[in-house]
Amino acid sequence: MVDLMRLDRAASIGDLRAMAQRRIPRFAFDLVDGGAESERNMRRNVEAFEEVELTPRYMTDVGQIDMRAEIFGQTFDVPFGMAPIGMLNAFWPGADLILARLCKRENIPYVASSAASTTLEQLAEAADGNGWFQLYVSGDPDVTAGLVDRAEAAGYPVMMVTADVPAAGKRDRDIRNQLSVPFKITPEILVQLALHPRWSMESLAQGKPNIANYADLLKAATSYADVQKTLITPSFTWDDLERLRERWKGKLVVKGILHPADAVRCAELGCDGIIVSNHGGRQVAFGPPTVEVLPRVAEALKGRIKIMLDSGVRRGADVLRAKALGADFTFAGRALAFGVGAGGAAGAQRAMEILKLELERALGQLGVSSYGDVGASELTVQPTRG
Ligand SMILES: Cc1cc2nc3c(=O)[nH]c(=O)nc-3n(C[C@H](O)[C@H](O)[C@H](O)COP(=O)(O)O)c2cc1C
Repeated sequence: MVDLMRLDRAASIGDLRAMAQRRIPRFAFDLVDGGAESERNMRRNVEAFEEVELTPRYMTDVGQIDMRAEIFGQTFDVPFGMAPIGMLNAFWPGADLILARLCKRENIPYVASSAASTTLEQLAEAADGNGWFQLYVSGDPDVTAGLVDRAEAAGYPVMMVTADVPAAGKRDRDIRNQLSVPFKITPEILVQLALHPRWSMESLAQGKPNIANYADLLKAATSYADVQKTLITPSFTWDDLERLRERWKGKLVVKGILHPADAVRCAELGCDGIIVSNHGGRQVAFGPPTVEVLPRVAEALKGRIKIMLDSGVRRGADVLRAKALGADFTFAGRALAFGVGAGGAAGAQRAMEILKLELERALGQLGVSSYGDVGASELTVQPTRG
């Protein structure tokens, strides 16, 4: 049972995160909340957003606020969507379907992860026209081809290829928590489960989460390295991207671009967009926050293809900050996931309400009635190097 009174009292995504932390055993909370190594990049993502200042203009009549945004021929009710998150049912049972349905209801894009705990076919059905598919390029070309074929058959209009995993991220919290493949209950994990009986019972009822799209292939996996080999490859190159571009007839987006030269190369290869992303600070600790590199990426691309951004979005105003710096559209990862962790479907809804309220208020305060009109003229201070 979800304590609805408490969800109502959550004022921010930070409040929902704190609630999720209380409800979920530490090893599972850390799976989502954690970042690479020192977590510097993850922290900087949020800090750098806060450093971006926009200057309000007044007496502009903001009685009618329009938050809609069009991208790839589809108009969404608000200019942000749900970023792909793998294995999210390990964080909260049923999280994938909760979020796919939320995105349909709210008319925002839902990006189904290759590594989701639910099959891409089930997620396409739940997102019902609002689903995009995220592809990890496997070391085995047949595995990649199989996923692309399935995504096409399931009717996804947009495929997002993730480029920023030449190696798995080293996440110190997961090592400390002794997470292993196959999942083993250590004495410490047993204590955490006992301290969170509600989560443990619900998780038990849903069954052990797996990486559903590769369930058969991973049956024999006995180590994290086995899983990694099936999911990702260090040998993914521009030539592979070119072949994917030839193969995929829908819109093709590359996720995880940080360098302006890489962004330009994506445009030259015929991709339809990029996501400026550092995987929420989960891959490297030494990289730049996304809002810091965004202006240079936008300058290099000169409007040739769509620019999206994620990593560090925690406030509605962050979506406007990204727009002012050159993004067309934004994605939230942990912000909506924390909502699910705080209270299942009701918590996800609360996270959405908070982000929408903040975004609407921020547009009004900024003196710009339409999201589409937010631009560099509102920008005062860009993020500094941290
Ligand atoms: C637990 C977790 C799992 C993720 N799994 C994937 C994934 O399967 N594929 C992918 O492209 N990105 C994945 N990401 C990265 C997100 O798509 C997104 O880039 C990131 O969450 C954005 O940062 P934010 O959480 O600060 O909003 C994952 C992120 C988290 C937190």
